[in-house]
Amino acid sequence: METGLTGKRVLVTGASGGIGSACARAFAEEGADVVLHFHRGKERAEELAAELSGGTVVLGADLTREDEVDRMFAAAGSLDVCAAVAGVWPSADVPVWELPLRRWRATVDANLTATFLTARGFLRQLEGDGALILVGSTAGLLGEAGHADYAAAKSAILGGLLLSLKNEVVRKNPLARVNAVAPGWTESAMTRGHVSEEQVGRISRTMALRKIARPEDVARQVVVLASPLLSGHVTGQVVTVAGGMEGRVIHD
Ligand SMILES: NC(=O)c1ccc[n+]([C@@H]2O[C@H](COP(=O)([O-])OP(=O)(O)OC[C@H]3O[C@@H](n4cnc5c(N)ncnc54)[C@H](OP(=O)(O)O)[C@@H]3O)[C@@H](O)[C@H]2O)c1
Repeated sequence: METGLTGKRVLVTGASGGIGSACARAFAEEGADVVLHFHRGKERAEELAAELSGGTVVLGADLTREDEVDRMFAAAGSLDVCAAVAGVWPSADVPVWELPLRRWRATVDANLTATFLTARGFLRQLEGDGALILVGSTAGLLGEAGHADYAAAKSAILGGLLLSLKNEVVRKNPLARVNAVAPGWTESAMTRGHVSEEQVGRISRTMALRKIARPEDVARQVVVLASPLLSGHVTGQVVTVAGGMEGRVIHD
């Protein structure tokens, strides 16, 4: 199916990670020119660039830092699409009454503030009918005990930020769109050690599909939302990629 992404210039943040690298590969398969962002994983991003061949640009930035984000967009050149994939899930289960302010601030920064700075940088340079895709989480829809910081940040991305941006981007270009994906448990470095067969058995009790997502499952939805041909009249929407998850098991 034609996506209309051939020759489009696409920035993928977090392209050094599991879901981001799958997004970069999926955009490259559609003939897009992909700009790969990394934070600490320079080698992983460079390996991916070599795999995707000729002309793939690799850029590093801590997306919680305004100066680094500005430098990244200056170096990226003109962009048509941005997939804001980068994010951090602190794995330690800590209830709110024990949650240090330091972790709260770091998690909100690495997810919500990084997404705001990425969206701002992308929209400042946008001239055409671009597409922005945000990445939330089922934690932002259902909450996540022990991870209120992450759930709150992802909820803000999928709610107030997405819905405000949806109505703002049309001031830049009447056909500009912004959408989001909300992945559930997905195989990646982020979930390593949390998705053994036994753990998936437990996690998937509220899911119709009793498996976790592969990064490609999320990446394909990102590409569909980015496509002006497949999603040209879709904006402000959240696509949940979580095997039909209905909620959380709270008690055994
Ligand atoms: N895996 C899941 O189950 C799951 C579920 C729901 C939502 N998500 C969301 O999906 C997105 C991708 O996650 P993933 O599973 O692919 O995890 P991952 O493999 O750990 O990738 C995370 C990415 O974020 C980047 N990053 C982290 N902190 C950053 C910072 N301060 N500045 C810039 N980049 C930073 C990392 O860069 P470096 O590695 O280069 O440092 C990496 O590329 C995240 O937003 C995550 O919250 C994941």
